[in-house]
Amino acid sequence: MIKIAPSILSADFANLERDIKKVSSADYLHVDVMDGAFVPNITIGVPVVKSIRNCTEMFLDVHLMVEKPARYVEAFAKAGADMLSVHLEAGHPTHIAQALEIMGHCGVKKAAALRPITKAEAILPYIEELDMVLVMTVEPGFGGQSFMASQLETIRQVRAILDKYNPACELEVDGGIAPETAPLVVEAGANVLVAGSAVYGADDIPAAIAALRG
Ligand code: DX5
Ligand code: ZN
Repeated sequence: MIKIAPSILSADFANLERDIKKVSSADYLHVDVMDGAFVPNITIGVPVVKSIRNCTEMFLDVHLMVEKPARYVEAFAKAGADMLSVHLEAGHPTHIAQALEIMGHCGVKKAAALRPITKAEAILPYIEELDMVLVMTVEPGFGGQSFMASQLETIRQVRAILDKYNPACELEVDGGIAPETAPLVVEAGANVLVAGSAVYGADDIPAAIAALRG
């Protein structure tokens, strides 16, 4: 089954509760945390995730675009995240392993995220413990960018690795997902589709979510 994860990066932050309710027919709520160092943009932090947790029952899929994420995973887990994604480029492999270990102690689901430059094989050291792999289909940092078709090959390669070593692991894609690109990533093996502008930019949001699900 294809899952849709609307990104609140495209929501109106002054009306966040209202905009979260608008996407309640979706499967996950995707929360983009950016630190101004790993990516050029700064978005939201722990207190906002805590407030979101208090106003929705949705599964919170928190995408950490921060340097050295092990410093923050416990705080985001305690704030109410259901799943945390850490970028494999955000620290030394020993640091990433530590971040995943803390997530395990906190009882939060574990995901590894890949920037477009990162090869699919980078997930291999962690493959058995992952609940999800997140393949970026744009450079992380901003909503509303164009889908990178060159990432279809990475999605296919990640799918092949998951089928071999961890078939229960989900494969999420993030960036430029719209009605035209969704069938391409699904065909390549993705099963969780993040969409910001394609959801929040639509006149009929439930219809947009249903269209992306295919
Ligand atoms: C970008 C974020 C995405 C972003 C997607 O760095 O990780 O989640 O919100 O936005 P769209 O769907 O507009 O490309
Ligand atoms: Zn994201």
